Amino acid sequence: MIETSDFNIDESAGRIVSPEYLSDDNDNEVSLRPKSLDEYIGQEKAKDNLSIYIKAALQRKETLDHVLLYGPPGLGKTTLSGIIAKEMGVNLRVTSGPAIEKQGDLVALLTNLNEGDVLFIDEIHRLSRNVEEILYPAMEDFSVDIIIGKGPSARSIRLDVPHFTLVGATTRSGQLTAPLRDRFGVLLRLELYTPEELAKIVTRSASILNIPIDYEGALEIASRSRGTPRIANRLLRRVRDIAQIEFGGEITEQVAMAALSRFEIDELGLDEFDRKMLSTIIYNYSGGPVGLDTLAAAVGEESITIEDVYEPYLMQIGFLTRTTRGRCVTKLAYDHLNIPFPNCNCTDSSQQTINLN
Ligand code: ADE
Repeated sequence: MIETSDFNIDESAGRIVSPEYLSDDNDNEVSLRPKSLDEYIGQEKAKDNLSIYIKAALQRKETLDHVLLYGPPGLGKTTLSGIIAKEMGVNLRVTSGPAIEKQGDLVALLTNLNEGDVLFIDEIHRLSRNVEEILYPAMEDFSVDIIIGKGPSARSIRLDVPHFTLVGATTRSGQLTAPLRDRFGVLLRLELYTPEELAKIVTRSASILNIPIDYEGALEIASRSRGTPRIANRLLRRVRDIAQIEFGGEITEQVAMAALSRFEIDELGLDEFDRKMLSTIIYNYSGGPVGLDTLAAAVGEESITIEDVYEPYLMQIGFLTRTTRGRCVTKLAYDHLNIPFPNCNCTDSSQQTINLN
């Protein structure tokens, strides 16, 4: 497997429950990655579909159709691309939208592929228009058009590239241009994991890393991991340290609870920032609605980070809604924060909730 890695390293917050890739994750993330669909826990719908498409392509001795993986960060898009390559018996090349600066970079990548290879482009929504245009004929006809020379003597020549499978990953499918999105034959949405699925992942990772843990301990870590394997595996390593130094080694429910409370991660996986954001909406904007940019300015975070990183989980647990007029906090969140719920709030059913994805 060949990897040209260019990870998005978000160190800004150093947040233990960030679903973004942190440099510290590198130690174990690669070794913990499942290598086959059978080993891969959760995402049953995506896995079932993928398994059929892979079998069908193998039977026909064809390359797999181009695949778009979308959904919140940390759910295993890179892992799935590795599994696709492995199951198809081909090489994986990994790159990312912002790493491909010029058309020539992409032409070089494409012409150096072997027949059947998987090209994984993370954050594909961040490709520049120029570069994206190279992808259209490459995805459709397995050829690229390049311009040789300058001025009146310039001419365009068409080069064949090997048949390949493009696996694109994005947290923002809405930002993909229509011509790019339409060229993917397989669209797979990854969902946040349930605590039970995450407990299986934590148990599997603990066994690979030789960490003693019981099921209740794994479930406690899982329940505070915001539906995200990357966070679950990170918390597992941090809890292990505390278990080892202060509790004799084994991670039980009590040990996990003690360790996670010390990191100020509550029983639902919310950290200080989540609580600050929710209480800002409650105290400064009467529970909402408040526009995304106003909220971002109030809590000192970028709008895009709030949308991609913080909101998906808060919406999944029913603490936050997006309405036509802005973000609103629900009664569940008031109850969780022990703040009395006022009678009049924008979460009334008369408000239309919209999906901004
Ligand atoms: N490690 C990280 N994600 C995983 C998954 N979905 N299944 C198994 N192990 C994992």
